Amino acid sequence: MKRLDFLKIGSLFGIGSAFGTIASARHSETPHADWTSKINAAGITGSAFDLKAEKIDRVRVAIIGLGNRGQSLIEMLQWLVQEGHAEITAISDINPTKIEKAKERIAAFQSNQPVTFSGSDASWQDAMRTEIADLALICTPWEWHAQMAKTAMNNGLHAASEVPIAYTVEDSLELIQIAEATNRHCIMLENCCYNREELWILNMIQAGVFGTLTHAECAYLHDLRQLMIDPVYYEDRWRLKHHLQRNGNLYTTHGLGPVCMYFDILRGDTLTHLTSMSSKEAALSEALANTADEELKEMGKRVQCGDVNTTLIGTAKGRSIMLQFDVHSGRPYNRLDKVIGSKATHYGYPSRLYIDEGPHWGGHAWLEGSEKSEYMDRYEHPVWSRLQQLAADHKQGHGGMDFVMMYRLIRCLNLGESLDLNVYDGALWSLVGALSEESVKLGSSRVDIPDLTNGRWNTAVPHPVHRDWI
Ligand SMILES: NC(=O)c1ccc[n+]([C@@H]2O[C@H](COP(=O)([O-])OP(=O)(O)OC[C@H]3O[C@@H](n4cnc5c(N)ncnc54)[C@H](O)[C@@H]3O)[C@@H](O)[C@H]2O)c1
Repeated sequence: MKRLDFLKIGSLFGIGSAFGTIASARHSETPHADWTSKINAAGITGSAFDLKAEKIDRVRVAIIGLGNRGQSLIEMLQWLVQEGHAEITAISDINPTKIEKAKERIAAFQSNQPVTFSGSDASWQDAMRTEIADLALICTPWEWHAQMAKTAMNNGLHAASEVPIAYTVEDSLELIQIAEATNRHCIMLENCCYNREELWILNMIQAGVFGTLTHAECAYLHDLRQLMIDPVYYEDRWRLKHHLQRNGNLYTTHGLGPVCMYFDILRGDTLTHLTSMSSKEAALSEALANTADEELKEMGKRVQCGDVNTTLIGTAKGRSIMLQFDVHSGRPYNRLDKVIGSKATHYGYPSRLYIDEGPHWGGHAWLEGSEKSEYMDRYEHPVWSRLQQLAADHKQGHGGMDFVMMYRLIRCLNLGESLDLNVYDGALWSLVGALSEESVKLGSSRVDIPDLTNGRWNTAVPHPVHRDWI
């Protein structure tokens, strides 16, 4: 790919096939030192930081992509639809079977049937019209997220995309430019920010339990080999194809998102630089080689992504983050969720809390029994306390965090409030993935992380997720 001016990238990328888009969006050859001048030239102002849009009493939702995630997010909307806060007005997928499945699921709780858009990989564009929807909920493979979100905003809709919302520097910048130009919300749906444990830790941090925060370790460690190899689990094995073409951290945000909230990233601190190293690749290619399928065996010879990617990230306030990605190796699921401060430390999987002051100072042991429960009860996040029963009653995904995420998004739109996460959060967390690939390509060299907010990050403000009245 030739060096591209990202201002023209939307028209240059155009609307292509999914596979063609992976190839064209893969790697920018722009040296990282140049990005700051590109950002300056882009005229990013930070104006969409606390963006509030018009109140929408009943949010009309167009769901694009009805695979595993799209079907599951339909369920997250059930209570909101039944309460009159939202309506699913359009659905789109290239696979007609998935359209039928979604229609059945929606009919179980909504009397109006959504308009359907299928037939080609460009049919989704017809759903992105303000006569049809207020919000595009994007649950497609990664290579579609940025262009679908950009089209939604350009057509007057708010955009909410599954993770990551982008994986190139150019797309990350252009999402911000368009959000600023159109005054449309653009949120990346990072559900782990709403998990009970993460919200509890955030609340303890806010209350000063951790003292001065210094370091965090986070990850996405999830053995996906069987699912990536499965012929139908991911439509057209889209996820496997990314691993044949890219090397770095391809899925940063489940681990990094919550840590950025802990560290007030973009609300008093920011990510400044990173270095990334990928290990040797073995587990995925061996799994592919061990199948009986010739096409998969051949794919096994082309895996680019190392098994374990480790990225070290520095912040403007001198904190450090260790971020890992591994979906090849066999081991139990883990996001690490480690955060270290001058007065306390938390390790996740399983959750362990160490308090380093008062009677506990220098005690060298995790809190146990009633001592741990006391902290859990005292610092349960108010947003979780208020919504947990509703989430439990409706058996809402991933232990409740998916429901809380969807509730907050729709209610903020109903009330005309700014969203919990803005376009800068999503773009930055995604950009770390793009820059990890860049660093790996450069032999693990340091790569600077550009400021996407025009200096706005340096203003300390409480995180909007603490607004417990929404
Ligand atoms: N946040 C989470 O916990 C979580 C969990 C699972 C998946 N995800 C994310 O959700 C997204 C989808 O993953 P998935 O597991 O549902 O994959 P999937 O393959 O099951 O679903 C993707 C769907 O998009 C459809 N699609 C592809 N191109 C399209 C196009 N041009 N127009 C309309 N539809 C199109 C496919 O037919 C498929 O049904 C990914 O970004 C993934 O990372 C997030």
